[in-house]
Amino acid sequence: MTADHDPTARPVLVLDFGAQYVQLIARRVRERLAFARIVRHDITAERVRQLNPLGIILSGGPASVYDAGAPRCDPGIFDLDVPVLGICYGMQLACQAMGVAVEPAPAREFGRAELRVVDHGAPLFLGVPERSQVWMSHGDQIPDAGPDFMPLAATHTCPVAAVRHRTRPIYGLQFHPEVSHTPHGTTILGNFLDRICGNPGDWTIGAFLERAVASIESRVKPGERVVCGLSGGVDSAVCAALLARAVGERVVCVFVDTGLLRLGERESVVRAFGGRHGLELRVVDAEDQFLDALAGVLDPQEKRRRIGRVFIEAFREEARSIPAAHYLAQGTLYPDVIESGGAPDGPTANIKLHHNVGGLPSELGFELIEPLRDLFKDEVRGLGLELGLPESLVWRHPFPGPGLAVRCLGEVTRDRLEILRKADAIFLEELAAAGLERQTAQAFAVLLPVRSVGVMGDGRTYDNVIAIRAVETDDYMTADWSRLPHDLLARVSTRITNSVKGVNRVVYDITSKPPGTIEWE
Ligand code: XMP
Repeated sequence: MTADHDPTARPVLVLDFGAQYVQLIARRVRERLAFARIVRHDITAERVRQLNPLGIILSGGPASVYDAGAPRCDPGIFDLDVPVLGICYGMQLACQAMGVAVEPAPAREFGRAELRVVDHGAPLFLGVPERSQVWMSHGDQIPDAGPDFMPLAATHTCPVAAVRHRTRPIYGLQFHPEVSHTPHGTTILGNFLDRICGNPGDWTIGAFLERAVASIESRVKPGERVVCGLSGGVDSAVCAALLARAVGERVVCVFVDTGLLRLGERESVVRAFGGRHGLELRVVDAEDQFLDALAGVLDPQEKRRRIGRVFIEAFREEARSIPAAHYLAQGTLYPDVIESGGAPDGPTANIKLHHNVGGLPSELGFELIEPLRDLFKDEVRGLGLELGLPESLVWRHPFPGPGLAVRCLGEVTRDRLEILRKADAIFLEELAAAGLERQTAQAFAVLLPVRSVGVMGDGRTYDNVIAIRAVETDDYMTADWSRLPHDLLARVSTRITNSVKGVNRVVYDITSKPPGTIEWE
């Protein structure tokens, strides 16, 4: 797939005014089987016309329309006869562009409010009860819809909480339909997409798969081969299976065994890919190189740097030995593309750049293939299932690139890794047995660099401490610790202290992010 997006699906453009919720809006649109694309707020009306969208959504944002330098959109987009839905700041901007006054609200409204629908025939509110809960977060508001707009709904403090233009397909919502605190929000967004934009609902995973396969087939010429790094995680696995579907035996997967993997991880990758899907799997045994490079290193950032360097060396050496290798496939996802500023017409990079962005350096000399760059994580999982990957792989929790090294606090040695690996496996096994694996976004054990006094049998022990951590999150930017049942924690603790030699104490991490991070290093 080339750097540009799927040209065959008509997009719904989500103009980004800096909203915290912009990706959530796009995901909600995708749930209605429409191809949401997040674009810069100042995209020109001409470019919008070229993209031939089904509809346009103006996101919320932190600014006030009165701020100097407040982000605006090209007013020409209101003349394109394409349906527009403004959300919060987006509604104020659309109304202001149409000559309606926006004013500071008497009191800033933040949190739950009761919405009262005043125009019961409005297509936007079909199926929404007369009174329902919505989520508000605004300082400005529209006191009077004026002659060109019709008010559709109100709250106690906000007289115009939803509007539509009388003659143009322009709509506005002062509240946030995309968040779960607005229980009928998906109905309202669905009405906008299906009834107002005429959404054909053709952005399905099956259709995506067909188009992606066709695109890869036409790009990779006979005789050329594609190298695909497998990490054991969902994204690279789905990427590999997709490539295999498209170009079969011309895909060579490289899996680097760093010696920093979870228990049974290498075996599960070999089981899922070795000899299946028609692709060739090469496993690089690099444990010694990694452990040598980490010997005596305590600093977390230094561990990461060394692991990154050794990984590139090991990968490069293997890739060089693959004849006719022309392409490198990576499982980059849409949020990474958006956040790194790499999306065509997309917003410029923001502060959310984080570890998972990047990957192998460009000087490896391959052309990149990134077939998942239009997809969110849940869509990648759907694609994995469509491609026949096992559920255990598709629902795997994310695992950091540096692996167990950043969970083995202090020095990384074979013996310490062994302790950690066993404790981690017990925790994950018990979590799965309790049916709680999918409720947690990430769960793992950490080996602490301290020892504690204990008593076992008749003797005093002075042994290692294992911390266990489980978190719930949608975006990994913020997270809450999981309220796991006490009897589950008790089983985990008993099993670890009884069967992992060298551990006499287990503690549970009850820190949210912020102030903690998900990983300990
Ligand atoms: P933190 O610890 O920053 O982690 O809250 C957020 C998410 O990123 C993962 N993570 C990493 N992933 N390389 C990666 O590929 C890294 O160095 C790294 N550090 C953290 C972490 O597991 C969580 O999912």
